[in-house]
Amino acid sequence: MSKTRYLVTGGAGFIGSHVAKTLAAAGHEVIVLDNLSTGRRANLDDATGRIELVEGSITDLETVESCCRGVDCVFHQAALPSVPRSVVDPLASDEHNVGGTLRVFWGAHRQGVRRVVFAASSSVYGDTIELPKHEGMPVRPLSPYAVNKCVGEMYGAVFNNLYGLSTIGLRYFNVFGPHQDPQSQYAAVVPKFITSFLDGQAPVIHGDGTQSRDFTFVENVVEANLAACAAPGTAGGRSYNIALGGRITVTDLCLKIRALVGSEAEPQYDAARAGDVKHSQADISLAREHLGYAGKVDLDEGLRRTVDWYRTRAQAGGGGKACS
Ligand SMILES: NC(=O)c1ccc[n+]([C@@H]2O[C@H](COP(=O)([O-])OP(=O)(O)OC[C@H]3O[C@@H](n4cnc5c(N)ncnc54)[C@H](O)[C@@H]3O)[C@@H](O)[C@H]2O)c1
Repeated sequence: MSKTRYLVTGGAGFIGSHVAKTLAAAGHEVIVLDNLSTGRRANLDDATGRIELVEGSITDLETVESCCRGVDCVFHQAALPSVPRSVVDPLASDEHNVGGTLRVFWGAHRQGVRRVVFAASSSVYGDTIELPKHEGMPVRPLSPYAVNKCVGEMYGAVFNNLYGLSTIGLRYFNVFGPHQDPQSQYAAVVPKFITSFLDGQAPVIHGDGTQSRDFTFVENVVEANLAACAAPGTAGGRSYNIALGGRITVTDLCLKIRALVGSEAEPQYDAARAGDVKHSQADISLAREHLGYAGKVDLDEGLRRTVDWYRTRAQAGGGGKACS
C-alpha cells in the first residue's frame, strides 16, 4: 500500500487498536475516533506520534465528518460490543451501534470516502442447528446487540447500492488476543480465563461449558480488514464470516489456557447468560474467495501468544488483571 489516510473508529479499543497500529506501522496516516467508553489511550501507547486520536463519538455527525476528510477507507470498529450489555440497556446499544453506524456511513459518503469496512458480528446468525454457519443462511438475532449488527449490515448494503459508498461487513467470530480487557463485567472469556489463572483463581464458566465457539486470534481479524480494504469493488455491499472455521467448547478452551498458564485451578460453573447462542462455527470460504482472506494464525498459536502477552504484563508489575 502507498501512504494513505485512514480512519479507525473505536481505534482505542481491542480490535481497533490492532488495526490502527498495523496501518501506522506500514507508514500510513491514521486517525482514531474513539469516545474511550470501553477503549483506552494506553492501547495506542506504543504508536504515540504515529496515530492522531480524536476523542469524540460516532453519534456526532459533525465529528465523524471532520474525521472523514481526505480519508480513503474507514475501518469502523466502534460499538458497545456486548450481548449482555445490550440485554441490560438496549437503548444505549441502539444509539451507538445503529445511530452511530448510520452516521459513520453518512459522514463517509458526504466526504467522498472510497470504502467503509465495518465490524459486523457472528451473533446475527442466532442459534442455528446447521453448522458451519455461512452467509447464505437467514439472520436470526437473539439479542438487541445482534439486531444492531443486522441493521448495520442492512445500512451498509443500502449505502453500497444506493449511494455508491463501497461497504464491506466482517462478521467476526469471538476474537481474542493482547489488549482485550479482562476487567469489564462483559469481558470475553479468553482474557478472563487467562487473568484468573495467572492470579491463581478459578475462572467462572457461564452455562455447562459444552457451548462451543470459533475463537479467532486478533491478527487474523486485522488481516481480514486489510484484505477487505484492498478487495475489488465487486466484493462490496455484503458481509463475510471472519474466523478460523473450527470450533472448541468453552470448557476445552479453558483447559487449554490452564495448561498454557501452568495452573491447577478448577473452573467453576455458573448460570448460562441470556441471549448467548449455544454453538458457533464459521464457513470462511466466501471471505477466502472474495477477499483473499487466509486466517494465518491457528488457535493454539494465537492462545500461546496471548497468554505470553498477559504473563509479561503481569510480570511487569500490573498483576494478571493488568491491561493496557
Ligand atoms: N471482540 C469480539 O469478539 C467481537 C466479535 C464480533 C464483533 N465485534 C465487533 O468488533 C468491534 C470492536 O470490538 P472490540 O472487541 O475491539 O471492543 P472494544 O470495546 O475493545 O472496542 C470498541 C471501541 O469503540 C469505542 N466506542 C464505543 N462507542 C463509541 C462511540 N459512540 N464513539 C466512538 N467510539 C466508541 C470504545 O471506546 C472502544 O474503544 C465492535 O464493533 C464489536 O461489536 C467484536
